[in-house]
Amino acid sequence: MKVSIIGGGGLVGSCAGFALQCGGIAREIALIDVNAELAAGQALDLLHGTPSVADQRITSGSYEHIPSSDIVCITAGLRRKPDETRLDLINRNTDLFVQICRDVRAAGLKPSAKVLVVSNPVDILTYVAAQTLDLPTNQILGLGTQLDTIRFCSLIADQIGAPPTQVRALILGEHGDSMVPIWSSATVAGLPLEKHPGWNHQLANQIFQRTKGSGAEVISKKGGAGFAVGIAIRDVLDAIMLDQRRILPVSSVQDGCYGIRDVALSVPTVVGAEGVLDRLEIDLWPKEVQGLRRSAAALRPTLTSVLQRIGL
Ligand code: LAC
Repeated sequence: MKVSIIGGGGLVGSCAGFALQCGGIAREIALIDVNAELAAGQALDLLHGTPSVADQRITSGSYEHIPSSDIVCITAGLRRKPDETRLDLINRNTDLFVQICRDVRAAGLKPSAKVLVVSNPVDILTYVAAQTLDLPTNQILGLGTQLDTIRFCSLIADQIGAPPTQVRALILGEHGDSMVPIWSSATVAGLPLEKHPGWNHQLANQIFQRTKGSGAEVISKKGGAGFAVGIAIRDVLDAIMLDQRRILPVSSVQDGCYGIRDVALSVPTVVGAEGVLDRLEIDLWPKEVQGLRRSAAALRPTLTSVLQRIGL
């Protein structure tokens, strides 16, 4: 399969390219960027590694790659400043994002193409992509809280000294300030996290707050997240490329799950070759479901004003 990454010259796009390269599953990785020279440089750097990884084609360029792409991943956009929320970004990022969607549409997507939105605020822009691109809604996904979820598991594992791959703890809702920790299902090696020696409410809250602030913490320390975002993107793209039907916390336009509709946010979502295959409305604690509805409510005013602004 061919994956094109729009914004492929930037930190997030190039890290996604590298993660995909290390995975060795995509047949071609195309880096697209307004800064063509930067994209060409990133592609050349990746190309140099191919003999030791997999027989992949690594290319760069512009929208001429879109018609042959099976998946288009949009990472382009301005990065927030450390004291800005992702929703604050909307005024600066919407116009750019809408233009990208128009260019992608004009270039002509395959009818079976999947689009993964990573640019922020990702839930708002996922909805905009679903409205703007000429594809069935189930083929449009946003990275959503997959990134927050792996951050959360990594910090829990680090805190209690558990193997990171054996920690399972979900974050759902908005990829932003109203994200919801799903403590009701958190486990370590299949055992309840809350029963783990040394675990307590205060620690749980501290780890969640640090997870929520992780994007900002990484921005302030190194300018922006790259590696973990790249890995989170790869999780979703692998599920599509391999038709894994994994249940991932990704964003998509909701149509009734947990009583939420007409807004994009993350719920447990079955992801496979056709994009979103299903959503699972598993019983959660009432306060978790309320949290999800609060996320929807937090996103709605911004979404409404963005849709007005772009005339949708
Ligand atoms: C972050 C950006 C990608 O959370 O939203 O680092």
